[in-house]
Amino acid sequence: TDTEKGTYDHFMLKEIDEQPFVIRKIIQEYQDENDNIKLDPAVRQAMMRSDRIYIIAAGTSYNAGLVGKQFIEKIADIPVEVHIASEFSYNMPLLSKKPLFIFISQSGETADSRSVLVRIKDLGHPALTITNVPGSTLSREADYTLRLHAGPEIAVASTKAYTAQIAVLFILAVDIAQAKKLNLDFDPLQELGIVSSVMESLTDQKEEYEKIAKEFFTDTRNAFFIGRGVDYFVVQEAALKLKEISYIQAEGFAGGELKHGTIALIEEGTPVIAISTQENVNYSIRGNVQEVAARGAKTCILSIKGLEQDSDTVVLPHVHELLTPLISVVPMQLLAYYAALHRDCDVDKPRNLAKSVTVE
Ligand code: G6P
Repeated sequence: TDTEKGTYDHFMLKEIDEQPFVIRKIIQEYQDENDNIKLDPAVRQAMMRSDRIYIIAAGTSYNAGLVGKQFIEKIADIPVEVHIASEFSYNMPLLSKKPLFIFISQSGETADSRSVLVRIKDLGHPALTITNVPGSTLSREADYTLRLHAGPEIAVASTKAYTAQIAVLFILAVDIAQAKKLNLDFDPLQELGIVSSVMESLTDQKEEYEKIAKEFFTDTRNAFFIGRGVDYFVVQEAALKLKEISYIQAEGFAGGELKHGTIALIEEGTPVIAISTQENVNYSIRGNVQEVAARGAKTCILSIKGLEQDSDTVVLPHVHELLTPLISVVPMQLLAYYAALHRDCDVDKPRNLAKSVTVE
């Protein structure tokens, strides 16, 4: 069952492996009998009425929100701001005339997010919660809910909820684009189907990631992940995963920002992992890798078919350019998992962390 480990040593690995099935489940749940997207019409209307979307979340859900912003702006043509829940209340931005709030929360119980929800409801603004737990506080108190259908997530470090959140945000953006009669040059659910198959091929190659994790993370105090564009958002999640369960001090940086400070930290042997899935930054991120390699960093590039070079450590199969976070994050999750394993850390229950933080 969903709440038992079965043959797995850890829930985290089980949940990583479940991702292709979760994506397929999401396709099913959000598909009508004509293979078109099916979404609560009330959610669509709320999105259409809004002049600006405010995404509020914490932790991994915040990282998913960063990717979601890209979808809603690029596909649905609505401006989006993404805010850390615990910061929003103390530093409320100037709101647009017709804001819509989207709360992204695996558990639906995060107190920091709830306090924002209470504030904006007082102000009379509409709210949509995207959650894995339909009866949760954030779901009950918001006007609308979209479900993740990821099944129970037990490991403290979130994996399948992150990819489920991204997939649902993609479907939401596409639905709005279709309602607005914007021209889409791809079949969204078919593209998600391709993602699901690619995810499966990645989770079948665990030894490869175990090897890289061993080589890069067995005895290091720190690690850097770099990317540009949407890859920058994925490296932030990659660093969070590694920090949470292996206790390695890890940071995700925008490739171009390294030279403005962080490059000072690069020493002989410092691990730097780069992701390159976007054509427009493929050249420049590789330049950033050369800069750190020249200062002694131990580097590794994960690229995608079509943008690869011979020296790349991993080449991911091709998926739609907007959907690359769904596949580039999988190796990152596996790297974090094996790093924690090799460092004898408690993978499913890392120190000082809780699955759901219900205090502010
Ligand atoms: C906690 C968990 C994180 C999670 C964050 C937000 O800090 O340890 O893994 O990303 O809460 O949780 P939520 O349930 O709101 O997505």
